[in-house]
Amino acid sequence: DWTMKAFREEAIERIRAQVGQGRVICGLSGGVDSAVAAVLIHEAIGDQLTCVFVDHGLLRASEAEQVVTLFRDHYNIPLVHVQAQDLFIGALEGVSDPEVKRKTIGKLFIDVFDEEAKKIGGADFLAQGTLYPDVIESVSFTGGPSVTIKSHHNVGGLPERMKMKLVEPLRELFKDEVRVLGRELGLPDAFVGRHPFPGPGLAIRVPGEITREKLDILRKADAIYLEEIRNAGLYDEIWQAFAVLLPVKTVGVMGDARTYDHVCALRAVTSIDGMTADFYPFDMTFLGRVATRIINEVKGINRVTYDITSKPPGTIEWE
Ligand code: XMP
Repeated sequence: DWTMKAFREEAIERIRAQVGQGRVICGLSGGVDSAVAAVLIHEAIGDQLTCVFVDHGLLRASEAEQVVTLFRDHYNIPLVHVQAQDLFIGALEGVSDPEVKRKTIGKLFIDVFDEEAKKIGGADFLAQGTLYPDVIESVSFTGGPSVTIKSHHNVGGLPERMKMKLVEPLRELFKDEVRVLGRELGLPDAFVGRHPFPGPGLAIRVPGEITREKLDILRKADAIYLEEIRNAGLYDEIWQAFAVLLPVKTVGVMGDARTYDHVCALRAVTSIDGMTADFYPFDMTFLGRVATRIINEVKGINRVTYDITSKPPGTIEWE
């Protein structure tokens, strides 16, 4: 019978057969998928692998440090940490269309990655943590017009430009299977159990144009929301939970002063694979507590709403 232990061994053999003596470069996103892919590949070919973590400034609070610590200190995997925050945020200035955001981020990511690959003397293969749902959501529907739901930036682009062959050991797996594999590979439970996080990061959680100020506001609200979810013991029941900072200002009142600040939307869904999802039925007391904390503690937000849209017809992210 098929087990993850067997998958691991087969995957390692396949990676070795594909890569031979070649050099592999792997982009870490901070998420579970790329981390599991990297650890698996490292197990197969050791230091023929170099990981590159491009910090695009669109991460949540303290995420970058967590990744660097895990890879450098825990696994001893060679890791280049690229500080590219200014570059990405500068390039996104004036960009408000979601697909243009993804393409801008994807293209820059390739540029930065390309440069780092050259610095380490080049590589023959590019490793990616692409999952099965990424593969099928990014291809055109057969028989119909060419429709892409969302251009997930970890699929396509990079290999053509860099003339590298792809190593994608997770291509047949769903998210829940990747988590099992991650535990099998000894990744810490807290890391493996993390909610998925999209490659374009917080850029697609600030509908419309992003600014440093909006990103800072969003990071604070998101951290409070997740802290409350963890404290309530709900984190593992939820597939993905995050805050969205809406490009809408509304009137409020605080003390005896009128406020005119952003609206924050909270999202939480349950799902098996991200392809379909149901909104999470929090109790109202919980939502009320989170809303009060966000409005009291985060300057720039004076109203909180909860998103009760399921997928379909909504998507999980707002962009
Ligand atoms: P949607 O919003 O399409 O999201 O229902 C489904 C899952 O995919 C993630 N997602 C992305 N991941 N690059 C990524 O790497 C992207 O551009 C992207 N867009 C959505 C989303 O967080 C959810 O887990």
